Amino acid sequence: MKIGILGVGHIGKTLAQRLSAAGHEVKVANSRGPETIGADVLASGGRAVTAAEVVADVDAVILSIPFSNLPQVAPLITGVPADTVVIDTSNYYPMRDSRNEAVDAGQVESLWVAEQLGRPVAKAWNTIGSDSLANKGKPAGSTDRIALPVAADSPRDRDLAMALVEDTGFDAFDAGTLAESWRQQPGTPCYGTDLTREELPGALAAADATRSPKRRDLAVAAIQERVGDATTNPDAEYGVRLSRALFM
Ligand SMILES: NC(=O)c1ccc[n+]([C@@H]2O[C@H](COP(=O)([O-])OP(=O)(O)OC[C@H]3O[C@@H](n4cnc5c(N)ncnc54)[C@H](OP(=O)(O)O)[C@@H]3O)[C@@H](O)[C@H]2O)c1
Repeated sequence: MKIGILGVGHIGKTLAQRLSAAGHEVKVANSRGPETIGADVLASGGRAVTAAEVVADVDAVILSIPFSNLPQVAPLITGVPADTVVIDTSNYYPMRDSRNEAVDAGQVESLWVAEQLGRPVAKAWNTIGSDSLANKGKPAGSTDRIALPVAADSPRDRDLAMALVEDTGFDAFDAGTLAESWRQQPGTPCYGTDLTREELPGALAAADATRSPKRRDLAVAAIQERVGDATTNPDAEYGVRLSRALFM
């Protein structure tokens, strides 16, 4: 499959490596240009291109950029054919955008993203921390393989996104429509908790729309207390322990 990945930070880099290793034809881009993309991103293959090139002539576009920057890339996505599947990895945290205006995503992040982009998306890989994504993938059928929820409105979007999640080393679980995807947002029981295929359905069902934003904010406060800022990821196992304690 031909895949364009926009954003090669903590998450996009690993996706590029895994999907290239799985045999896909991968292009990657960031906001600053192909010459700024490190060789490690392309360690398993793939090509660094411009943001305009990364969304052209592909079967799937993966957006792995900060939530508040998604409106900036809407003009790029406008030109993407309707049959190209757009997959978004983003999560909302209370924040300000590049003009320092408060961003309010409402209750369902993926619906806000779809509205900003003017087209449907699939929501995938958003629930797994970057260290678990990089280090805990396993071949299909392995014991205790981590399962990741995938939400989308069309069967085509969902099937394609689920197949790619499997290719990155995780069981893909059909989590329903975008309207239901609040069940996989920060603060919910499946978020950052590295659950298995057996555990994930119960976690999605147990999500509480009222409590999860409060739990999300508690986790942010705990992480900030430990690492001192909102951009550095904490030690991987600390993050999983904290998410399990607060969200489950
Ligand atoms: N970190 C995690 O553990 C984690 C887990 C699950 C989901 N997520 C979500 O996944 C997304 C990516 O997170 P991350 O931690 O990988 O972020 P990150 O490390 O900060 O990387 C962000 C990437 O997006 C690029 N980017 C930013 N604005 C852009 C724009 N307007 N156009 C093109 N590229 C742009 C950046 O490139 P430049 O440096 O060139 O701007 C960078 O390559 C976020 O929405 C996050 O909420 C993160």
